[in-house]
Amino acid sequence: MITELLELFAKKEGYHFFHHLKHPDLTQIEKALTGMQNKQIALYIHIPFCQRLCPYCSFVRYRYEETPALVYMKNLRKELELYLDLIQNTSTRVRSVYFGGGTPTLLIYPLIDMIRYLQDRLGIEEFSVETHPEDLTLEKMKALSKNGIKRLSIGVQSFSDDILRKLGRLNANSNFAQKAISMAQGNFDTVNVDLLWDLPQQTISHIEKDIQTLFKLDVDQATFYPILPTPNKKTLLERQFHKINRGLFRKNHTHKRIYEFIQNTMKEHYIPSTVWCFSKNGTKIIDEYVVDCTEYIGMGCGSVSMVNDYYNVNTFPVDKYNKFLSQGNLPIVRSNKLSDWQLSNYQLLTKFFGVRVPKKNILQNISKKRERWLKIKLAVLKKFGYLVENKNFFQLTPKGMYQVNLLMRQTFVGMNTLRERCLEGGI
Ligand SMILES: C[S@@+](CC[C@H](N)C(=O)[O-])C[C@H]1O[C@@H](n2cnc3c(N)ncnc32)[C@H](O)[C@@H]1O
Ligand code: SF4
Repeated sequence: MITELLELFAKKEGYHFFHHLKHPDLTQIEKALTGMQNKQIALYIHIPFCQRLCPYCSFVRYRYEETPALVYMKNLRKELELYLDLIQNTSTRVRSVYFGGGTPTLLIYPLIDMIRYLQDRLGIEEFSVETHPEDLTLEKMKALSKNGIKRLSIGVQSFSDDILRKLGRLNANSNFAQKAISMAQGNFDTVNVDLLWDLPQQTISHIEKDIQTLFKLDVDQATFYPILPTPNKKTLLERQFHKINRGLFRKNHTHKRIYEFIQNTMKEHYIPSTVWCFSKNGTKIIDEYVVDCTEYIGMGCGSVSMVNDYYNVNTFPVDKYNKFLSQGNLPIVRSNKLSDWQLSNYQLLTKFFGVRVPKKNILQNISKKRERWLKIKLAVLKKFGYLVENKNFFQLTPKGMYQVNLLMRQTFVGMNTLRERCLEGGI
């Protein structure tokens, strides 16, 4: 019962949050950026092009064509420069950069140019890049590792060809993925493999095969994404992946059973880095800049940022994004300054998504009011057995990990709904 109530709470909060985003006050947002002192932030850079569009995918993505993709990359660079000019006189340090998509490696040379620019201008060393297994050639892999990319994330989704076919994946042949992983392993600090679960017609044996293949290939890290529904998806093919009726007050417990199976099987060789991600040596990690850095700037169409208590959302359609940048403007279309209540929820969710939270990371440098909210919420979570506490850390229990997985999924439903509505409405 408590599980359902917490999920209902997350749904309500998510709805309230995403539906009450306002038109941005750019002067205030720029003031928040220039006022960021002694912060360590992450950059997320979105490159939305793919060879083929998978029907289940909930990210902003477009079919790759060279000319518009190159125009987009030029505008990304303009957006990057606008932000770097705003933060250059602050003591804020950019700690890491994550290139997500889409399939960023489709634009390997413009991508490498941008990485070199960031290395020269800011001296950043931590770069992560996402790729599709069929896009990762030996040449691209060498270009990435030679230019300082530390972490590579490969979107495998499943090691079963029947599931890949149902997912509408290019070629639907998991041998490509196995080859890409073997080629990449050892050439980066971390190679991450993305897998999907809770898919229609996927069984525990499919998941078992996925995990045994991870063990066989000795993969550094694996992220198990539950399929994150987008209630507004329109076509029949898309909608089969976007049923959300299993979320609240579910009659069957498949979702929980699969999650526990993943937790229990992965723990033979891996340690959880987030509630969805398992690492061989337990070191962190590739994807979750929101866990490591409370503040981050998202660039590219449909990206979001969290800076100095402002949550900002970029325009979603690529043509609108290009128009903003060609006029020299930040492409922010929605924004909100978060209240102490919202910030404490946001912080709880993102920090506990990382499973183990140093106390100093969650309770230091925050307002008295936010600290009070956090302490009350932490006490409630402890009471229900979702977390344990020692001298320096809070840590989720396995039951708590399942709970945070549900809350995170619910938050993504809110985010995905916003994304589809904005794309539809040209926002
Ligand atoms: C944006 S993709 C980039 C990787 C690359 N384009 C690929 O597909 O191989 C990153 C990951 O997001 C995950 N993803 C995409 N759509 C999703 C959805 N609706 N629910 C859950 N995860 C999703 C997939 O596992 C994918 O590998
Ligand atoms: S899952 Fe990857 S390849 Fe498929 S549409 Fe999404 S970003 Fe593109």
